[in-house]
Amino acid sequence: MQDTVDIQVTPLSPACGAEISGVDLSKPLNPHEVAAIKDAWGKHLVLVFRGQKLSQDDQLRFASYFGDLGSRKKPPAALRNRTEGSQQDNEKVLLVSNIKVDGKPIGAFGEGDFWFHIDSGYTARPYKYTFLYAIELPSRGGNTMFSNMYKAYESVPPALKEKLKGKKALHIHEYNRAKQANSSGDISGIPHCSHPVFVTHPDTGRKTLFVDRLMTTRIEGVSAEESDVILNELYEIGERREFIFEHVWKLGDFLMWDNRCTIHARTDFPKEERRLLRRCTVEGEPLYE
Ligand code: SIN
Repeated sequence: MQDTVDIQVTPLSPACGAEISGVDLSKPLNPHEVAAIKDAWGKHLVLVFRGQKLSQDDQLRFASYFGDLGSRKKPPAALRNRTEGSQQDNEKVLLVSNIKVDGKPIGAFGEGDFWFHIDSGYTARPYKYTFLYAIELPSRGGNTMFSNMYKAYESVPPALKEKLKGKKALHIHEYNRAKQANSSGDISGIPHCSHPVFVTHPDTGRKTLFVDRLMTTRIEGVSAEESDVILNELYEIGERREFIFEHVWKLGDFLMWDNRCTIHARTDFPKEERRLLRRCTVEGEPLYE
């Protein structure tokens, strides 16, 4: 029997994001289906699949069609209890949750809003892709917002683009979610890495703005004052409403996004209500201008 592809792609916003229907991710996919999904992903950056019933193995199998699965980043021992949940028993999986059992968080990233960020931008090989599956949701809020950083790059004024050519920025691991990382002191015990401010996407060859408000703290080669001014301008561009797609979660939603050309954030939600999503990733590679 010939492999067939019967998926539909429906754009969700002018910024980015598309819903994919006609595919059951709990079953192995044929190469044509994977290629069609990859094609839609390249165009829309964030893909949404509704009404999925996925075990952890299903999720990992699907993610592995797109590369080597990423391992959960281990923070330094002194900071470990902030991100290591008690129910995370597979190093390829991270539970995004505010749920506690016997007073201990079962996963990571707790409650409240979460500023725009790049997943693992503070490492030498930031994840290429992130996959997130909704298991328990609050009655309102906890939406995930995505900004299209290709569009952000295109909107950086030409003079600033010229000034930042060849410049790198420092990314620091931030554990507070809604407070900017601080690189003014000794950061030797905190995971950090510098990347070009403008990155050429390794697959598409398009330029993207690679900074985020939460973890990018310093542009190298300019004064601290100037760096602050420029970064604020870049954060504002990256967070323009017209570049953002906001996803309102429903149970069974499965999202996948390209971490090199999007940043994402979370809106606040009632802290007494449970929220649980299962995350996995695909390992990244060094990024160049
Ligand atoms: C994340 O940033 O990986 C989690 C986003 C969310 O909780 O919606």
